[in-house]
Amino acid sequence: MKAGGPDEGFVVWMTGLPASGKSTLSKLLEKELRERHGRRVEVLDGDEVRKGLSRDLGLSKEDREEHARRVSYVAKVLARNGVVAIVALISPYRRSRVEAEETVGADRFVEVYVRAPLSVCEMRDPKGLYAKARRGEITNMTGIQGPYEEPTGPDLVVDTSEAAPEECVEELVSGLRRLGKLQKP
Ligand SMILES: Nc1ncnc2c1ncn2[C@@H]1O[C@H](COP(=O)(O)OP(=O)(O)O)[C@@H](O)[C@H]1O
Ligand SMILES: [Mg+2]
Repeated sequence: MKAGGPDEGFVVWMTGLPASGKSTLSKLLEKELRERHGRRVEVLDGDEVRKGLSRDLGLSKEDREEHARRVSYVAKVLARNGVVAIVALISPYRRSRVEAEETVGADRFVEVYVRAPLSVCEMRDPKGLYAKARRGEITNMTGIQGPYEEPTGPDLVVDTSEAAPEECVEELVSGLRRLGKLQKP
């Protein structure tokens, strides 16, 4: 089977600010791809990976880069075995995302920018982290004390401040079809 063909594994790398909607969209996309497309799917959520594989890592630039490196490796081995690996990771540094694409291989890598203005993310604040960062109780919060380098040429962009999660997932599925990663209906 040709790499990048419609039954091949691939990586959906979701990058975006905290609370932009990466975890929400990952879970919905997982369900959609499993139930409607019969695909094997694994979600690698940054917060979950930090409880295990990356539990020794903090929030410095070096540690965030190492975290992304580990997730890239796992995503790569899943994808080459036919799994759709959905990665939900802030991955604030452009260099990490370029490295991830190199690790996985460009033909299997789909970079998705989960976009929402900082003001919207901060208003959502589902985990109260922005509030903590504003109070100085946490440091290195991406978007407040830490940088977020926007993707320059993502394969797909979803604007989560403009549409409901279900609509964003529909957009993602049609985007993946357009990119030849999923069968046309
Ligand atoms: N279109 C959308 N897509 C994703 N999440 C959305 C959307 N609209 C509103 N939300 C809300 O925004 C929040 C996003 O949180 P989460 O998915 O945990 O973000 P992240 O994983 O990027 O930190 C959730 O409370 C979710 O319900
Ligand atoms: Mg999340």
